[in-house]
Amino acid sequence: MARYTILDIQAMKSKNEKISVMTAYDATSARIAESAGIPLLLVGDTLGMVVQGHTSTIPVTLDHMIYHTQIVNRVTSKAFIIGDMPFMTATTDAHETLKNAARLMQEGGASCIKLEGGEFIAPTIAKIVQAGIPVMAHIGLTPQSVGQFGGFKVQGRDLGRARQLLADARAVQEAGAFSVVLELVPTPLATLITEQLTIPTIGIGAGAGCSGQVQVFHDVLGLFDGFIPRHTKRYADVGALIEEALTNYHADVQTGAFPTDANGFTMDATVIEALREEL
Ligand code: KIV
Repeated sequence: MARYTILDIQAMKSKNEKISVMTAYDATSARIAESAGIPLLLVGDTLGMVVQGHTSTIPVTLDHMIYHTQIVNRVTSKAFIIGDMPFMTATTDAHETLKNAARLMQEGGASCIKLEGGEFIAPTIAKIVQAGIPVMAHIGLTPQSVGQFGGFKVQGRDLGRARQLLADARAVQEAGAFSVVLELVPTPLATLITEQLTIPTIGIGAGAGCSGQVQVFHDVLGLFDGFIPRHTKRYADVGALIEEALTNYHADVQTGAFPTDANGFTMDATVIEALREEL
């Protein structure tokens, strides 16, 4: 099967088939997520936190994103790969943004780009779409503007902000985005936005009324212990399993229980005897 396309994603929405999206940043996570049948992989700038160890996504550069997108592209064959535009690479400067988006597609091998912002960035989205690049928009809590929001806070709880979020969603759809991420949006508002749009909404902390869900690989597998976001469900505690395994390895090396003869390689005894005699 060839890679999923935006037509497949639109068809999932039309058939009321929920769309699952998972982040992937490296060969191992991408291979496992694709084998699990997840159709859309997001090479998100969350890699700044879960891979690079920063406290926000701000330090991530376009070159970092291209590097990780290349890896995910290299080891997958079916997944639709969403390449995230990092801090200050998608702005109201449409010309500059288009150049950056083109690099993520051409050098990284992304199937589409994702950028943060609503109404104010819609003209830029229109230019990128006109150039032939599929765009996934991202509204609500947009992590690259976390400083402006004063923290990772739920967005759109009051009437003014709720109106603005609906306007943002409509504007990005109108500009040609094929889908939109809704992050940290109250469930009733995300449901209303989903009803009002023809393009699929992908929620994270936006409830079950969205057309699909996106989660961060390290969060759902218990691999990130910085904090556990409320919108996450831990499907496994892989971090604890890894720690237990590595503790056992360390102990075995110290006691000599590892390696055993079964982990080593033999040679003709006469060779080693001859070498010993030479000493
Ligand atoms: O970078 C990312 O992983 C994201 C998701 C949180 C939607 O943008």
